[in-house]
Amino acid sequence: MLKLSEPTLLRSQNLIDGQWRDAGLAARFAVTDPATAETFANVADSDAGDARLAVDAAAVAFPAWSRRPARERAQLLKRWHALILDHQEDLARIISTEQGKPLKEARGEVQYGASYVEWFAEEATRICGDIVAEAVPGRKLLVLKEPVGVVAAITPWNFPLAMIARKIAPALAAGCTVVAKPAEDTPLTALALAWLAQQAGMPAGVVNLVTASRERTPGVVDAWLADSRVRKVTFTGSTPVGKHLARESAATLKKLSLELGGNAPFIVFDDADLDAAVDGLMASKFRNGGQTCVCPNRVYVHDAVHDAFVERLAQRVGALHVGPATEDDAQIGPMINARAVDKIARHVDDAVVRGARVVTGGKRVRSADGPHYYAPTVLVDATPAMELSCEETFGPVAPIFRFRDEAEVIRDANDTPFGLAAYFYSNDIRRIWRVAQALETGMVGINEGAIAAEAAPFGGVKESGYGREGSRHGLDDYMHTKYLCQGQLG
Ligand code: SIN
Repeated sequence: MLKLSEPTLLRSQNLIDGQWRDAGLAARFAVTDPATAETFANVADSDAGDARLAVDAAAVAFPAWSRRPARERAQLLKRWHALILDHQEDLARIISTEQGKPLKEARGEVQYGASYVEWFAEEATRICGDIVAEAVPGRKLLVLKEPVGVVAAITPWNFPLAMIARKIAPALAAGCTVVAKPAEDTPLTALALAWLAQQAGMPAGVVNLVTASRERTPGVVDAWLADSRVRKVTFTGSTPVGKHLARESAATLKKLSLELGGNAPFIVFDDADLDAAVDGLMASKFRNGGQTCVCPNRVYVHDAVHDAFVERLAQRVGALHVGPATEDDAQIGPMINARAVDKIARHVDDAVVRGARVVTGGKRVRSADGPHYYAPTVLVDATPAMELSCEETFGPVAPIFRFRDEAEVIRDANDTPFGLAAYFYSNDIRRIWRVAQALETGMVGINEGAIAAEAAPFGGVKESGYGREGSRHGLDDYMHTKYLCQGQLG
């Protein structure tokens, strides 16, 4: 049972034009606890009609919001930021209950998400263009930054607060208005966040949020893709869905930011500090039970340090406490749903059949607490022929690949259509620059496993998408560049 100190945070209706409303069809869908698969809430199941109403509201609100002085937009964002932190414990409990993230990590997610709101509140007041040196006398050339218009934000379940915060905050800072749809597995955190935005004083229509079941989601998203008033789509999720959004938004040539799947390599060279590398892998691989786009999916360890590294890693992984996310000592909670845990089991079984050896884990656990727990796992003797080498496992599984030379490991690390994040550990300064430049990813952790930060540009290359979130680049993605040329001044 989810008990909150501020029960009004638990919303079940859409927020459209400042009003909390049922879906047009009065339909609802069930929100389930990922541990037990039991329903604990029901929320609005919206369709294309609701999606269009949200755009109507955002389009009407846009002119006034975009003209509002940047400092006023920043103040509203700062108020929202303060309210998010004031409700940190309640928000963390909602995240844990609907997503299965261990409570301690969920508290961290609230701070992480809030940091984007604060960052973009500050950046809002620093938006500036250029005055360009004129080539012809009597002319002035100016470059302005303008908000793109209505933004559709479509967010994933694995960071129910941070992902929507880091899309909505820069949009509002830039002067855009928003229609948003959270993942069907985790709508409650997003609804609570929208309620807090309203409490912070966001004008009606500036933030609109609709929820929809897996079955009705295509109707909502396709309505936004077809609507020429929506000028940008920002999405975090799978590469196939990202490609669909890119194809379908082409008819109205919307601006797109796509943060898609990854298949991150994590490389431990023979000159690495092994303890630091184990710490880094624990932080990046087992965060959120391995359910992050940036978590290492393939761990390459140099032959000379392989056995020592595996021994230290296996000790740490074997000691991780698996349990219901709302228990204080849980480090690995349940996976999000049956499909997720089935995929993990399939990847491990396939790897074992193809010659991998389980050092620790390798099985489902805690069945008395629910069907979706999987033991944190270390596998050795992984090879490129295994499914887990080509596809994101999205679970607490670290497959170790042995390598012998730098050129070989770079080739293998880059041998994937994806290019989101990569990590490596080395103490050789020349190698550090060589490898960092050779890795085909948008982000590289060098002797560091936790790389995301509000001040840094988050995003990928290749089929991991384009666009950046966080940093000043993240704000730029919500603006277009307008050039003014004034003549007859001489
Ligand atoms: C993601 O998994 O998509 C986001 C992870 C992060 O922000 O670090």
